[in-house]
Amino acid sequence: MKAVLIPGDGIGPEIAKSVEALTTAMNLDIEWVKYRAGAEYAKETGDVFEPGLVEAIEQYKWALKGPTATPIGTGFRSVNVALRQKFATYANVRPIRSFKGINSRYDDINLVIIRENTEDLYKGIEYKLNENIANGVKLITREASEKICRYAFEYAKINSRHKVTAIHKANIMKYTDGLFLEAFRDVAKCYPDIEAQEVIVDNMCMQLVLRPETFDVLVAPNLYGDIVSDLCAGLVGGLGFAPSGNIGDEYRIYEAVHGSAPDIAGQNIANPSALLLAFALMLEDLGKIEAANALRMALSKVVEKQETVTPDIGGHASTTEFVDAIIKEL
Ligand code: NAI
Repeated sequence: MKAVLIPGDGIGPEIAKSVEALTTAMNLDIEWVKYRAGAEYAKETGDVFEPGLVEAIEQYKWALKGPTATPIGTGFRSVNVALRQKFATYANVRPIRSFKGINSRYDDINLVIIRENTEDLYKGIEYKLNENIANGVKLITREASEKICRYAFEYAKINSRHKVTAIHKANIMKYTDGLFLEAFRDVAKCYPDIEAQEVIVDNMCMQLVLRPETFDVLVAPNLYGDIVSDLCAGLVGGLGFAPSGNIGDEYRIYEAVHGSAPDIAGQNIANPSALLLAFALMLEDLGKIEAANALRMALSKVVEKQETVTPDIGGHASTTEFVDAIIKEL
């Protein structure tokens, strides 16, 4: 099969190479079709996406994306947000698992965050009334809320998980979060075997830090989902091991959760784990379960041994040495 690979900015091209190396080493039937996108491409050409990128995703349906830089406050909109909206990848799925060998507060975390990906404050409807007043619109629809909640319960059912927790602030945002919660309650009725729980977002942050093991599948509107996902990544040692999948009815775009790490770009010391785990998620969704498990297992063995790992997790190895060690472990 063919799939699109977008290396992205900063460390993106370095970690994308590791995906290509693993694809070859594992003899996988995937031919990567590469396209550029992001700030560096925009600086060179004035365009954010290389021509043909959007059409390639339309054609091949599956894509893996490295991090892309987004200017803060001014400039073009985030490549991620644009792709999610263009390809209606309405669910952002982030599994959060503990990794042996990684220093973290907890060592038995296994939860999944399912974040609505297309609306809320990320819709980008904002404007300036004058120099000193700006306004942003929090757009929530019943359709998108029901769709994401149904996805979360279906995910729980298929993966034998027992509880879905809705994150909200409906006590204050009665119409917007209220609508999300109403949709959650309606959908929950169709899944009587799965426990449905509702937690206000601020309390949720505290509960996750104090008692993360009490949660299973979390579902949230876009903004809370974004913030809580990073909090959860922190519970298992940071963004270095956090993959995500942007899932739509037709298209799927997988990515590492971290950014383009401009401070270490071009030095061959970036940790490729999150992008490799995003690749493993993609393989799993493609039904290549054995390959996905083999990749995860080889990666976790190398990390657990701590002999050939990158500086961000306490080692001295380069990205390529780390990847070679994973290939050896396979
Ligand atoms: P960042 O995640 O790029 O970096 C934060 C810190 O973590 C840095 O010290 C960096 O060196 C380190 N780090 C991140 N990934 C690493 C890796 N794989 N291996 C080793 N160390 C790693 O976040 P920051 O600095 O806030 O953002 C930089 C740029 O990335 C911004 O332009 C931002 O918009 C973009 N970004 C893109 C994302 C995406 O495309 N999915 C997600 C988050 C940020």
